[in-house]
Amino acid sequence: MVLDTIRTRRNIREFTNEHVPESALKLIIEAATWAPNHRNTEPWRFIVLTKEGDMRKKVADIIKDWVYQNVKNPNPERRIANSKAAKQEILDAPAFMYVYSIQGQNDEVTQENYAATSCAIQNLMLAAQSIGLGVGWSTGKPCLANVGTSVGAEPDWDIVGALYIGYPAAAAPTAKRLAVDDVTTWH
Ligand SMILES: Cc1cc2nc3c(=O)[nH]c(=O)nc-3n(C[C@H](O)[C@H](O)[C@H](O)COP(=O)(O)O)c2cc1C
Repeated sequence: MVLDTIRTRRNIREFTNEHVPESALKLIIEAATWAPNHRNTEPWRFIVLTKEGDMRKKVADIIKDWVYQNVKNPNPERRIANSKAAKQEILDAPAFMYVYSIQGQNDEVTQENYAATSCAIQNLMLAAQSIGLGVGWSTGKPCLANVGTSVGAEPDWDIVGALYIGYPAAAAPTAKRLAVDDVTTWH
């Protein structure tokens, strides 16, 4: 039931070690591509970094260096530990991908593309939820570290998120939302 899937989906960052098959990743990416997209631009681009691939290691090192340079900590040992932990988080994710949105021919279309790609990620998360996978959407370190051209993204693509994917290690946390009446104006 789609409503249950929508309500029970949570942002997941703790996973078991179970391998995520390529077929499952293809299934959820295919679901993503059914998102609404104005002018049928199909603006989403997915870059999967396989767990054992060299690119995963390369990106993990870029993120480690970025964290070391940018996340200042007065304690030098803590700073090194933080950067190593950031690297390990990337290496440990059972599956990991970047999602980019391509430019449009003007700012309006570029913004629409970004919105459509966000819808695509939601589709992907719901599809994942429906087959027992969890997804963590991040716009933090893995995106801020500017890995774009290293992973093969075009320089003008907008990064929409890094997705950590795997089988959840624990029951999904509970969550709350504002009541409909708190977020809706009726006229
Ligand atoms: C555009 C976007 C960026 C996000 N970036 C991060 C992030 O960098 N780190 C993180 O822990 N969660 C991130 N999230 C997940 C949100 O924190 C999460 O959706 C929110 O806490 C609500 O929880 P839920 O998705 O489990 O309902 C992001 C979500 C969106 C939509």
